[in-house]
Amino acid sequence: MSIEVMIQDGESYLMNNYKRLPISFVKGEGMKLLDTEGKEYIDFLGGIAVNSLGHSPHVVVEALKDQIGKLMHVSNYFWIDSQVELGKILAHNSFGDKVFLCNSGAEANEAAIKLARKYAYKKYGSHRNEVIAMTGSFHGRTLATLSITDSKKYQEGYGPLPEGFKMASFNDIDALKNIVGDNTCAIILEPIQGEGGVTAAKAEYLKEVKKLCLEKDILLIFDEIQCGIARTGKLFAYEHYNVEPDIMSLAKALAAGFPIGAVVATDKVAVAWQPGDHGSTFGGNPLACTAAVATMKEVVEKKLWMRAEMVGSYFGQQLQLLVNQYPFVKELKGKGLMLGLELEMEGASIVAKAFEKGFIINCTAGKVLRFVPPLIVTEEDIDGLMVVLKEIFNEMEVVE
Ligand SMILES: Cc1ncc(COP(=O)(O)O)c(C=O)c1O
Repeated sequence: MSIEVMIQDGESYLMNNYKRLPISFVKGEGMKLLDTEGKEYIDFLGGIAVNSLGHSPHVVVEALKDQIGKLMHVSNYFWIDSQVELGKILAHNSFGDKVFLCNSGAEANEAAIKLARKYAYKKYGSHRNEVIAMTGSFHGRTLATLSITDSKKYQEGYGPLPEGFKMASFNDIDALKNIVGDNTCAIILEPIQGEGGVTAAKAEYLKEVKKLCLEKDILLIFDEIQCGIARTGKLFAYEHYNVEPDIMSLAKALAAGFPIGAVVATDKVAVAWQPGDHGSTFGGNPLACTAAVATMKEVVEKKLWMRAEMVGSYFGQQLQLLVNQYPFVKELKGKGLMLGLELEMEGASIVAKAFEKGFIINCTAGKVLRFVPPLIVTEEDIDGLMVVLKEIFNEMEVVE
């Protein structure tokens, strides 16, 4: 199908909820994407922090090919070996003991909230149901996850949203202490916020949050959907802080491009769920789990977080040079290969110009250029992007 026909038919038959660029890709390999017109792009977005092993990663493709001919779906009435294997890998490599599997990030956060509420309900009764989230947060697009997402725009028109959610100012422990009460059952936050502008939690703040949670038996939920799975230089971002949550949600890069979500929890919390308390038809599906097992083995065996730290450090240094050189580039944000450049102005036009020059980048929170490339990105790829960003920034300087 040509891109023209695709756009025409797409506008006729698909809902208009995405602002799509007039581009379609036909093939991906490593850092590269090829569009219908034969143009090649270097991908620094990685499907929004999903394609952590690059496009068409051999280990995942081969594992899926093998599995698809054997068994695609059976339901959770039965044991699924790759689901068990994935649970074991996640438990052995994190703070957690038990895992629940689902299909997306929002679903993982819904499950995390339900698990936290059930735990508090069984221990303290139904009044203890309040979940506190942070300003700048993004946790998904379902009704409950919208309630803990700090965006009036995303929430508008969907009321009434579920009750029992409050918002505290991120990185402000006093604000949190003022909001926490007898009905608080959980605090949810992203150790490094993604959509909110690549903003990392402060080390002292997270320590204080943990202390508060321990004092009041409030569950701490970390949403590592974007910052997890080796992206920030540790397998999980909480490791930077030496602060462990009670519950963690994962998705995005967990299966390197195959849809999946997961909730990891300690035994203390997980025991709140008994058969029938939660479920998902596709959750933990053999294909998704096969892809995730192959991904996680690759990540763990190759210690890809070390690569993220090393290449991310080089990337960060190069981006810092832009902060030093261009007055409208305010600040370098993030860790490892989850990096942001905060600008004085909106970044959409820079993203569009980078696209024209064959580089896929992204802008979040209006003014933050976001870079979440596959973890296989090389210094050469980064050098190529720097040339392009400088070209774009130099043209802007002339205009302004
Ligand atoms: C931190 C975080 N949580 C949750 C989500 C929602 O995940 P999904 O789009 O898979 O529902 C996202 C997606 O961007 C995210 O970045």
